[in-house]
Amino acid sequence: METRFDIPASVLFGAGSRLRLSEELKKLGAARVLLVTDQRLRDTETIETLRERLAGDGIAATIFSEVQPDPTDRNVFAGLACLRNCDAEAIVAVGGGSVMDAAKIIGVAATNSEPLPTFQGYHRIPKPGLPLIAVPTTAGTGSEATKVAVITDTERHVKMMIYDPKILPRVAIVDYELSVTMPAALTAYVGVDTLVHAMEAYVSKKASGMTDPLALSCIQLTSKYLRTAQQEPDNRKAREAMALAACQGGMAFSNSSVCLVHGMSRPIGAVFHLPHGLSNAVLLPAVTRFSIPGAPERYERIRREMGWDEDLADGLERLNAELGIPKLRDALGIERSEFEVHLEKMADDALASGSPQNNPVVPNAEEIIDLYRRAW
Ligand SMILES: NC(=O)c1ccc[n+]([C@@H]2O[C@H](COP(=O)([O-])OP(=O)(O)OC[C@H]3O[C@@H](n4cnc5c(N)ncnc54)[C@H](O)[C@@H]3O)[C@@H](O)[C@H]2O)c1
Ligand SMILES: [Fe+2]
Repeated sequence: METRFDIPASVLFGAGSRLRLSEELKKLGAARVLLVTDQRLRDTETIETLRERLAGDGIAATIFSEVQPDPTDRNVFAGLACLRNCDAEAIVAVGGGSVMDAAKIIGVAATNSEPLPTFQGYHRIPKPGLPLIAVPTTAGTGSEATKVAVITDTERHVKMMIYDPKILPRVAIVDYELSVTMPAALTAYVGVDTLVHAMEAYVSKKASGMTDPLALSCIQLTSKYLRTAQQEPDNRKAREAMALAACQGGMAFSNSSVCLVHGMSRPIGAVFHLPHGLSNAVLLPAVTRFSIPGAPERYERIRREMGWDEDLADGLERLNAELGIPKLRDALGIERSEFEVHLEKMADDALASGSPQNNPVVPNAEEIIDLYRRAW
């Protein structure tokens, strides 16, 4: 099978690498940039310090911070208006997956006039966007290294998965010092997201010799360092390892695919607004149990990389408990009957996303509904 592998042209990795931002922007020939972030990060020193440093280097940065967690089409249009106002030549995204995804789509919305829903799916964007430099502050989605963005369509209440090399950041600047301020719960959620990216990339029908080593390295690093990163927020070694894992996991799944966990977690996010990593985590044990028969050797390898003697799905349940990840019913805080109302549409949306079709065992709608119930 022929495969294709796309990653950013450059990945700068390490403590202090954020200080290279001006240099990289100058290589792109950009003197005016849109700096995309969110309100919570804007209230910290990070953003203002970066802006001042850019100004000192002769680069005018206009800050756009109206990106909400699980960004929407409205966030994209607001950012596009801001980009046009300041006549930016490039985009810098400083934030988690939400900020990076919004920035990716602002960039292609600037150069394409088609409505956003026409971008949903694979390779649907006609023209390349403005050059983008992605600086992640979570570890993480790996979005700094992926050709994927997830944007909520507010009319259809769907998390649109947009997959196209045209949205790949030109440069990823992965400076783990930016992630040390993540609170414990966020560290756990985004860290499990990282693990799920690697696991799904590895068991996917689209896995390849290019993506396997990245996925396995990501699994090892996560197994070894995620709990430390959560328990000791200032542990630089653990933060660095998780930043590396996140970037590797992103490269892996972006060139293989995600599978059933992500297919099922997007509808949970769209309906109940649960953080992305948390909605993955609550599904992971049940979906793994369901999927093992489709790729027993690959799952066995994952169990070994995790360093576990026990059954993989049991281990994942234990990991969730150790990380303080709640059960789905506790995370949602709603009655079971209210959950049931949504299951049919959620299963349909999961299947429509295309991700479950890459899973080692491809489920039908009824099996997906059953899995949602198991995760409850
Ligand atoms: N494009 C991709 O490849 C890809 C992959 C996985 C997930 N996603 C998407 O990414 C989004 C989730 O991103 P996320 O999990 O990184 O979270 P996020 O970007 O939604 O951020 C969550 C919260 O954490 C805060 N935050 C971010 N960095 C922080 C830091 N260093 N210290 C303190 N607070 C910080 C943010 O301000 C925000 O309030 C979802 O929309 C998901 O669908 C995209
Ligand atoms: Fe994810």
